[in-house]
Amino acid sequence: MRAVIAPDPGGPDALVVADLPDPEPGPGELVVDMAATAVNRADTLQRQGFYPPPPGASDVLGLECSGVVSAVGEGVDAWSVGDEVCALLASGGYGEKVLVPAGQVMPVPAGLDLVTAGALPEVACTVWSNVFMIAGLREDETLLVHGGGGGIGTFAIQLAHALGARVVTTAGSEEKLEVCRSLGADVAVNYKEQDFVEEVAKATDGRGADVILDNMGAKYLPRNVDALATEGRLVVIGMQGGTKAELDLGVLMRKRGAVIATSLRARPVDEKAAICASVVEHVWPVVADGAVRVLVHATLPLEEAGEAHRIMEASDHIGKIVLTSGRTAPRKVGA
Ligand SMILES: NC(=O)c1ccc[n+]([C@@H]2O[C@H](COP(=O)([O-])OP(=O)(O)OC[C@H]3O[C@@H](n4cnc5c(N)ncnc54)[C@H](OP(=O)(O)O)[C@@H]3O)[C@@H](O)[C@H]2O)c1
Repeated sequence: MRAVIAPDPGGPDALVVADLPDPEPGPGELVVDMAATAVNRADTLQRQGFYPPPPGASDVLGLECSGVVSAVGEGVDAWSVGDEVCALLASGGYGEKVLVPAGQVMPVPAGLDLVTAGALPEVACTVWSNVFMIAGLREDETLLVHGGGGGIGTFAIQLAHALGARVVTTAGSEEKLEVCRSLGADVAVNYKEQDFVEEVAKATDGRGADVILDNMGAKYLPRNVDALATEGRLVVIGMQGGTKAELDLGVLMRKRGAVIATSLRARPVDEKAAICASVVEHVWPVVADGAVRVLVHATLPLEEAGEAHRIMEASDHIGKIVLTSGRTAPRKVGA
């Protein structure tokens, strides 16, 4: 099979298309003939040599895919050859054939095309597991989502809005803020011009955000804690603003707040399977009825993975950047 790897760490040109042996499913695993995958920030870090795959996982990049089941291993009863599926992966999505534990495979939500489904698992599993399973956002609460124009942000805004929560978000351009509002954000804050702590306070009559989904890490830690409501939960999922910061435990304690940092990729297979099952139960219905959709900024063939990484690192995209195995969709850039 053809697959994209980064044999030597570097910029987007470090990605190469290699011929690799087709994977064979072991017990409890299956092989998906990939229709589409999508770019995640973790892929760009892996390419640079900063975020190696977990032990035992393939060197092929890619944390998600969609496609058709082409082989099933011993003990796999839930899936058959020919099923159209999407899957959450520890690695391997940028390959024409993808090996995946059966518990991380999900059906394609009704009404969604197979290519778009390739950009769904990572946003759906990350947002659902962090905002709802871990932070327990309720419908009478306020969610602050940083990076509202990104893949995660665009999905989190819609899902929280669809499930009845109030949403405040941050983004760095008027175009992104406009899209965030159209997706259901009640308040969209330009972080380059406004102070999000003040804007959250205004939007909540001084109460603060009950849950914060944060992609910035260190850079926003003190201000995120300031923006939290009493009994608020700050979930850090990205470190785009660095890893080390000072935390005033006094402020956190007075609010009886929680700071949680998680990585989906590092979680054991059984935890990922539980997340996937919960996502299918709770998230797929709102995707199927059109209340929540995957915004696709660009669709490129797998061979153009380097260009797809360049687009992500330029950070002007809104939503997800999709890569196809080439047989399924034409090249398209621009929402
Ligand atoms: N822990 C996990 O399990 C997990 C899983 C998936 C993703 N993630 C992380 O989640 C983050 C988002 O992923 P993604 O796929 O959505 O990436 P993405 O599409 O690149 O979105 C990131 C967004 O952050 C915005 N941003 C940059 N600086 C900002 C700032 N100072 N304040 C607010 N927003 C800012 C960017 O655009 P603008 O600056 O133009 O607004 C961009 O829209 C990444 O850090 C990724 O690594 C973590």
